[in-house]
Amino acid sequence: MKLNSRAAVAALLLGVAPAALVAQIVAPTTPPPAPAFEAQGEPVFKNRADVYSYRALPAYQQPAYMDAFVAAGLLPPVAERLPAEPLVFSTAATEDGVGVYGDVMRHVIGGRPEGWNFWGGQSQGWGGIDIGMTECLTRTGPLFEINADDLQPLPNLAKSWEWSEDGMSLTVHLIEGAKWSDGDPFDTEDIDFYWNNVVMDPEVSPLMAATQDTYGTGTTLEIVDAYTFKLNVTTPFPSQVLYALAYGNFCPGPSHMLKPHHPAFGGASYEAFVNAFPPEFMNFPVMGAWVPVEYRPDDIVVLRRNPYYWKVDEAGNQLPYLNEVHYRLSTWSDRDTQAVAGTGDFSNLEQAENYVEALRRAADPAAPARLAFGPRTIGYSLYMNFSANGWGEPDERAQAVRDLNRNADFRMGVTQAIDRVRIGESLVKGPFTAQYPGGLYPGTSYYDEASTVFYPYSLESAKAHFANAGLADTDGNGFLNFPADVLGGADVQITLLNNADMSTDGNLAEAVVAMMEEAGIKVALNTLSSNDMDSVGLQGGWDWRIFRNGSDLITVVQNTEQLAPLGPQTMRTHFANAAGEIDLMPFEEELNTLISGFIATQDPAARVELMKQYQKVYTENVYGVGLTAYPGALIINKRFSNIPAGAPIFMYNWAEDNIYRERVFVAADAQQDYELHPDTIPGAPGSAGAVTAN
Ligand code: GLA
Repeated sequence: MKLNSRAAVAALLLGVAPAALVAQIVAPTTPPPAPAFEAQGEPVFKNRADVYSYRALPAYQQPAYMDAFVAAGLLPPVAERLPAEPLVFSTAATEDGVGVYGDVMRHVIGGRPEGWNFWGGQSQGWGGIDIGMTECLTRTGPLFEINADDLQPLPNLAKSWEWSEDGMSLTVHLIEGAKWSDGDPFDTEDIDFYWNNVVMDPEVSPLMAATQDTYGTGTTLEIVDAYTFKLNVTTPFPSQVLYALAYGNFCPGPSHMLKPHHPAFGGASYEAFVNAFPPEFMNFPVMGAWVPVEYRPDDIVVLRRNPYYWKVDEAGNQLPYLNEVHYRLSTWSDRDTQAVAGTGDFSNLEQAENYVEALRRAADPAAPARLAFGPRTIGYSLYMNFSANGWGEPDERAQAVRDLNRNADFRMGVTQAIDRVRIGESLVKGPFTAQYPGGLYPGTSYYDEASTVFYPYSLESAKAHFANAGLADTDGNGFLNFPADVLGGADVQITLLNNADMSTDGNLAEAVVAMMEEAGIKVALNTLSSNDMDSVGLQGGWDWRIFRNGSDLITVVQNTEQLAPLGPQTMRTHFANAAGEIDLMPFEEELNTLISGFIATQDPAARVELMKQYQKVYTENVYGVGLTAYPGALIINKRFSNIPAGAPIFMYNWAEDNIYRERVFVAADAQQDYELHPDTIPGAPGSAGAVTAN
């Protein structure tokens, strides 16, 4: 017989043992099947070595307008600006072959630049600005088109590497003779500064994930010479380290600019270091293809080709082909609208609310942009803060919520109060969204359905779990209260941190608030700009948050260390307190054992098995409350060439990296007059704007 919830609460109040309530709990199952959705466009699979190599070519070219700068002595000849052996893209691996110079990619973004100090934690506004400016030691975005048996990060600033025989030391060889966009040499001085004064300095939090734990806690750096260094690791052959040399983790900054502002080298303070290069600061030196030359607040950021870029095509043309990239500072939804309308050039269609209209407009054969869907890799979860020992210095209310977050019945109640069908349909009708329980994504290589525990939607069951967790509506106001000895039996009140910059995040947050209310849990929104949300998230001052998941849950091999609280700062829901201690729950210890095991073994069968167990422990214990997962589409203006087939908007990285923008071009007869600073080169460091040859 099923008890109704009022009876359940009454039973609880009468002190009836929780076992009496079990009858109304709806048991978990495997996840319901997702609607079939075909990705459009198959990647042309290849080996890494087919894409590019490092070698000298007999001659090099630059855009004709740059000749005047060389003649005027403002720039060395192109061959002297390039490394002796530049990175050479193979023509055979491109869609449309050797390109031509000119034109612009006009991006639109919803973020805003805080400044250029990526290493001090400043965002440039996302949408590909930082991806186009920073280059990393290895590269993973394009791995979506690499053969499975050759799957490893691509080289980039690191041109090769080898493990010592015992697997405890990785020797990395940098490209030799590459230069920053102001002509300063790129070498191990930049690596040294990045490692010792960014990654290992607890006062500095780089924008994305790299911390002392990313490479295995205790890993050390050893500089061998100007172009060689070693990472001495703590377990043999940790293959995720190569992924942690890619975007997000090991993209060194210009030490010649950053060092003088860092407190270890006489900089005034950490705050001054972080803020040393505000968005108005032009020509900040980059290793990427484009350099910032114009910034107008709430209007635009313009980047112009880097004269020292160290990549070429097989014909010896220095890349990039595109002279400029623009970033209109608008909204993320406007990015979709403009890309479809042809006033912008690029969008990752990822806000499901815009799908129907975007599809309708793109279906017109005369539409200016093509739109292609990829796999279901856009997914959101609701995360709970699991630190009960001080991270983010919770007050009494927040501490009580953290204790609740750590209660398995409470988490099961929350997940069963979420109606994922309703959530999906509120975003977009049609075969797009899947009911995502959390953990590894369905359809990805390590996902195993039989190991995935799905708690079906059931308000009755949710309420029974909440009762088991000790919550009851003791004051009859429709919301559950803490037991009398916690906060005097006050209503449970939870704050949900979410991102103001994305409409999907807002809609999901509102759905969660409404569904929790139906289950008797009071949730209030704390809606912040993504820049502020990220810093609150890292500092730990939050109860719950909505998060668009990263590549770790898709690829597993990238950011593997972020899958479990292995170190003081690897798991974004559970950092250590100020003393460096993490109060692990027993199932988190299990997750740690499984992920350490995964990192420690190279045996593919063992890895598959460990990930099955990981998924089981994760989903059974509701480590993250999955909300929805759906496919994204790349929208790109039809005038661009060399867009790889089947490029997903998100997998190992975002499409801005996946499509190799430095190799994208516009055929001569399709070129438009969009350049804002034609015939200029970025000026000397510190000067404003671009300079002309005369
Ligand atoms: C934001 C956007 C993504 C992508 C990334 C790139 O997060 O939502 O679509 O453009 O920036 O960093």
